[in-house]
Amino acid sequence: MSDKVIIFDTTLRDGEQTAGVHFTAGDKIAIASALAAMGVDIIEVGFPGASPAEREAVSAVARVVRTRTLCALARAIPTDIDAAADALRHAASARIHVFLNASDEHLTHQLRKSREEVLEMAGHMVARARNHTDDVEFSPMDATRADPEFLFALVRTAWLAGARTINIPDTVGYVLPHVLGELIATLLNRVPELAQGRISFHGQDDLGLATANAIAAVRAGARQVEVAVNGIGERAGNTALEEVVVALRLHGGALGVHTDVDPRGIYGISKLVEEKSGILVPPNKAIVGKNAFRHASGIHQDGILKKRETFEWIDPAMVGNPHGTQIVLGKLSGRAGFAARAQSLGIGLGPEKLDLAFARFQAVADQKREPDDSDVRAACIED
Ligand code: KIV
Repeated sequence: MSDKVIIFDTTLRDGEQTAGVHFTAGDKIAIASALAAMGVDIIEVGFPGASPAEREAVSAVARVVRTRTLCALARAIPTDIDAAADALRHAASARIHVFLNASDEHLTHQLRKSREEVLEMAGHMVARARNHTDDVEFSPMDATRADPEFLFALVRTAWLAGARTINIPDTVGYVLPHVLGELIATLLNRVPELAQGRISFHGQDDLGLATANAIAAVRAGARQVEVAVNGIGERAGNTALEEVVVALRLHGGALGVHTDVDPRGIYGISKLVEEKSGILVPPNKAIVGKNAFRHASGIHQDGILKKRETFEWIDPAMVGNPHGTQIVLGKLSGRAGFAARAQSLGIGLGPEKLDLAFARFQAVADQKREPDDSDVRAACIED
């Protein structure tokens, strides 16, 4: 039996912290419904303490999306915690996610509180959240830059006050995978009670390491990963849902874990979030980028045409991509790709004719970024 990794989606909370993104209540309902349909375990819907409109939007989702645990974020202050509880009052299953600064950098320059004051706040505010729901998550913000001894004390305080999910946020995308793995393993060692609950990881992608860090966290014992669709989120974004789900599906056996999220929903949710957020997915984005399953060079095309797995080990159908594997003709594509395209257009070419037609095609492809079928047809017409 492998362990389940809980997929906690924060597209509607940290994802909405992407500069320029604004989700309406309707957008949140549409995205949360799609996430629920694909089996995402926990959906962080928003930050009700931020504004009355946000509170209303969270509440609107809670009335409609009934099949998953819905989560709301709260600073470790009474008004935020009560606002989160109020916004989630219609939820079928509600989690309050309390966060509080943990690093000295944050304590000294942002929060301006002593370590003792922070420990006291954590205990009181987690207990307050527990008065509203049994399902409380605690995040020591900037955990990966915090003094580990203080981090362990803060986590223990939150645990004793009733938080059963302890999230380790790499708030500024600072940590390296092996360091994070050691931190989580040490945390489990120093606060062994956590084995009765769940350790989570929340990564930001400032170094492009968010997915690698998430996998390192899982290897070290984390059993919840926080993700956002298309990797949207504050600054360089969050750990991408599609990357973690596919990595867990395809490497889960080796890691001894699994996810219940259905990867076939990935293409559709990526398009939905792209549309609602206005943040375009770069073509080279893993799993959901336009080029993720397109092959442009002659050597790769030749291999793909012989056996897809030579250069494409992830099946586009697995992630619901309706376009499938694509051979894209261009300056670097080869004879095999050209012949296959001609054949798909109903043009059979013997070896000599193929040589001539391919030479004509190459002359065009040298001048044109993406030659199309009309160029293939024209190259095949005999003089
Ligand atoms: O990046 C961060 O630290 C967060 C926490 C609130 C989890 O978003």
